[in-house]
Amino acid sequence: MSPSLSSLADEVLAPTYVRPDTTFVSGDGSWLVDTDGRRFLDMTSGVAVNALGHGSPIIQRALRSAADGLIHTSNLFHTAPAVRLAAGLVERSFADRVFFCNSGAEAVEGAIKFARLFGGPDRREIVYFDGSFHGRTLGALAATDKPLAREPFEPLPAGYTRATFGATDALASISARTAAVIVEPVQGEGGLRIAPSDWLQALRIRCDAVGALLVFDEVQCGLGRTGRLWAHEHSGVRPDIMTLAKPLAGGLPMGAVLMTERVSARVTTGCHATTFGGGPFVASVALAVLDHIGTPSLLQGVVERGAQLRSGLERLRGVSEVRGLGLMVGARVQGGGKDLVRRAFEEGLLVVAAAQDVVRFLPPLNVGAADVDEAVVRFGRALARGDGGTR
Ligand SMILES: Cc1ncc(COP(=O)(O)O)c(C=O)c1O
Repeated sequence: MSPSLSSLADEVLAPTYVRPDTTFVSGDGSWLVDTDGRRFLDMTSGVAVNALGHGSPIIQRALRSAADGLIHTSNLFHTAPAVRLAAGLVERSFADRVFFCNSGAEAVEGAIKFARLFGGPDRREIVYFDGSFHGRTLGALAATDKPLAREPFEPLPAGYTRATFGATDALASISARTAAVIVEPVQGEGGLRIAPSDWLQALRIRCDAVGALLVFDEVQCGLGRTGRLWAHEHSGVRPDIMTLAKPLAGGLPMGAVLMTERVSARVTTGCHATTFGGGPFVASVALAVLDHIGTPSLLQGVVERGAQLRSGLERLRGVSEVRGLGLMVGARVQGGGKDLVRRAFEEGLLVVAAAQDVVRFLPPLNVGAADVDEAVVRFGRALARGDGGTR
């Protein structure tokens, strides 16, 4: 990064992020290139956003064709791409109806609001879990188990109860006052923890018994990331509401709340809205993404490359555990986290930290076998340059 841009960045950007002193200017597939021409193997995909890789011809074609049409009309009017996209999501999921928005946090806000609409005045409680991450807006933050992100902004909205992820005693927190239980089928920020199938099944049964809704947050784990189109397919448990965002529009900002007819029946006109949600430009691109991500060959590639990545990481000295599903993979390294991410960066490998000493690998869903092998080699070098961990 040029010194002048670096010092301008220090002056004009709000200091919410710590970034390396590098500026990326181009990319192809799993690779990003900086201003000095240095190539980095990108195992973050923009934190699970660039599911088809950088410079994807599918996304580029969709963008060009979307640019020939309308960009925005507002939600006062229908446009064909939004209607077709909603129909595509409904056709491929448990859901009957879709509300479009602009981000993961906004999708979670929508899910919570729709759940409270469904529950009515006597059911306001939202049950969430330890290790959860649902976003940074106040309503989503109140369901997020991250003290550093929460505490500066308290008081957060009331009516949220935290329970233990994967534990049977969590069921006791779900009562006749519960509007919804919100859970990530695979926790991303929380350290790649997979919700056990029998526990999700028990949540489903308990929610049905007390009349609460079950919300799956698939903002990070949905849309092919785990080797199935929806992460909850691994458990066979269906939610009442599901949130999506990250990869949905191929890198453009878009979120969605999918719901059953039973939930949608309580949604009244004017109770919730958003200016940009489901605009024709983003929706056209999302249609192309959905068509491609849903194909059996892509999902099969996710399963195969995921297995390859996990077995490569398991062989590395210093990795005490490898977790995850499909191409949502975490390597646990004692004392891992930010310093290890920095050492990986110095090896030309981009990875992202998660909780519990876990480093996340979220490559493009169409990553090649050679790039997976190369990522393991570079990660091994990054580990060897540190204290190495415990194994
Ligand atoms: C599971 C989950 N939900 C919600 C969010 C929030 O999404 P956004 O950053 O688009 O608001 C994230 C972001 O990482 C996430 O992983």
